[in-house]
Amino acid sequence: MNPIEEEIIRLTAELNRHNYNYYMLDAPVISDYEFDQLLRHLQELEKAHPEFMQPDSPTQRVGGTVTKRFETVKHVYPMLSLGNTYSEGELLEFDNRIRTLLNADIEYVCELKYDGLAISIQYEHGVMKRAVTRGDGTQGDDVTANVRTIATVPLRLQGDDYPDFFEVRGEILMTFARFEALNREREEIGEPPFANPRNAASGTLKLQESAEVARRGLDFRPYYLMGENLPYPTHYDSLLHLKQWGFRSGDVLQKAANIHEVIDFMHLWDQKRQELNFPIDGIVIKVNSYALQQQLGMTAKNPRWAIAYKFKAEKQSTKLLSIDYQVGRTGIVTPVANLSPVPLAGTIVKRATLHNADVMAALDIREGDHLFVEKGGEIIPKIVGVDLSKRLPDAQPVQFVTRCPECGAELVRNEDEAGTFCPNELHCPPQIKGRLEHFIGRKAMNLDSLGEGKIEMLYENGLVKNIADFYSLTFDQLLGIEKKFAAEEGKAERVVSFREKTVQNILSGIHESLSVPFERVLFAIGIRYVGETTAKKLARHFQNIDRLSSATKEELMEVNDVGDRVADSIIDYFNNPENLEIIIRLRNAGLQFELSEEAAPVSDVLAGKSIVVSGVFTISRDEIKQMVEQYGGKNVSSISKNTSYVLAGEKMGPEKKKKAESLGIPIISETEFYQMIGKE
Ligand code: IVH
Repeated sequence: MNPIEEEIIRLTAELNRHNYNYYMLDAPVISDYEFDQLLRHLQELEKAHPEFMQPDSPTQRVGGTVTKRFETVKHVYPMLSLGNTYSEGELLEFDNRIRTLLNADIEYVCELKYDGLAISIQYEHGVMKRAVTRGDGTQGDDVTANVRTIATVPLRLQGDDYPDFFEVRGEILMTFARFEALNREREEIGEPPFANPRNAASGTLKLQESAEVARRGLDFRPYYLMGENLPYPTHYDSLLHLKQWGFRSGDVLQKAANIHEVIDFMHLWDQKRQELNFPIDGIVIKVNSYALQQQLGMTAKNPRWAIAYKFKAEKQSTKLLSIDYQVGRTGIVTPVANLSPVPLAGTIVKRATLHNADVMAALDIREGDHLFVEKGGEIIPKIVGVDLSKRLPDAQPVQFVTRCPECGAELVRNEDEAGTFCPNELHCPPQIKGRLEHFIGRKAMNLDSLGEGKIEMLYENGLVKNIADFYSLTFDQLLGIEKKFAAEEGKAERVVSFREKTVQNILSGIHESLSVPFERVLFAIGIRYVGETTAKKLARHFQNIDRLSSATKEELMEVNDVGDRVADSIIDYFNNPENLEIIIRLRNAGLQFELSEEAAPVSDVLAGKSIVVSGVFTISRDEIKQMVEQYGGKNVSSISKNTSYVLAGEKMGPEKKKKAESLGIPIISETEFYQMIGKE
């Protein structure tokens, strides 16, 4: 054998052993530095001799691939989901059903119900080959490159008693510590935080860059084996044995001789879940014997041999310290309770939303009350009631603020709306930032070289106060502007500043936005109630901004879907001289205020036809929908008896297909659609 190949094989095995010692046994035998040296050495050898790279190379753990679009693949064995229950009674029924069907006492296996996302990992001759998300159960996304970065997914199995081909099913999850670190980081750079570790895990798994997936440190817990010739006849022994092959398995796994032992396990973990460093939302019970599982089979959706018991949301009582009123990007004012810190479902809760004045009134909150906080699936806690036993006799009701805490304007509340809002749209700081953010959004001007964090910096430095200001920015103004992030828990103060490259990106992005078509510009300028679709319709109808801005209410209401409220809002917008000035500046800067040729109506062959577009096409779905409209048709989102056609691309959801068929709605392909509109 070539000596380099030999060296690569040796290094691969050695590094994998160190990884195992580190992640699985928590007992590293070399320093991180030594590990990095070895890894770097292997990387260099692989780079020079890619032909010798091993399928289980640890260099894949650090990522480096970029997946543009995940390939859809069919599952070898369908991925089922479990029936759920919240009640002990239903657990007893589950047990009764099984014992009646099998006419015997049954041994169960109790497991945790991990709160992440399901994955199926295929192994061929002991080597990890492919990882596929659950998708619709029949087919999912191939996320192999991303799953390879997960340290607790072995790339080559240990031992030699595994079947030639089998799948390990399990959950990809994120620990609380990783989740919180990730959210802190995101907040610093102005990205919205993830609501809970599950969302964070699933968002991470679908990233295109595997290096970023690697950095975020996902975790994997197996919970089922699929395949022929499995070495053990029971689920319990199989899961335990996964440990020998190199998985993190069996930490919490218990056999139960009867349903009462299952219920004990459930109570135990309802309490003990506080101690876990990853999220669970219940327990799962499975019949232990594979033969019996087979005999029980499945119902229409779920296996009969397993069930999930979901924990009820955790609840705590804690003291209300004060209430903040947060002004959102759209001017809505949300009351947020500051609470005496209390541990709840793995995190310390200090704040919880009170939603709006109605909710506050319904809860009848008084100064100094103790409140019940609850955490369900979401990490953001909810106030569900007042602990009346702790209320002081003379406690005063809490009053909702009357002035905007950000700009001092008198707050407004419409009769039939729950929200209280600040009407000072153009001069209230969070609303200004909200408009700026809306403007740069993907469906608006798509200025992706800017983001929430950068907007904040531009605004704070007085460089951008309205959307027209983007187009007067200069290189010199932008270079070097900075933002300080205060020091916190073990982190030093940090300063972020715009460097040359950033500035160039921003300016070229702004320049490119000059070609964004009129309908999106119209959406971007942020007329209240004018969403993406309405903007499109208005653009088609009026063709340019001059006709739109001088239209009467009646003329506006001629447009499909434009009612009273929208028409009034458009008129208000163009009556405001500050808005007119912004439009003039944007127009002078070169933005599109006229419908382009491509978007203009072409023919009316589809006039009167309602079309549902579903699935993946050779061009983007938005482009397909644009064509539907250009040819006089109407896009609708759900199938009903009034639908004329369902235009189906690849991967159309099976539910939609069923529905169309049952209503007898014709399903047409992309090619048939082009024929219909007379396009090649
Ligand atoms: S068994 C047929 N076991 O819960 C076997 N699922 O609908 C099907 N889950 O999204 C799954 N922990 O990803 C099983 N110990 C566990 C689990 C578990 C979490 C998830 C699974 C799926 C849902 C079940």
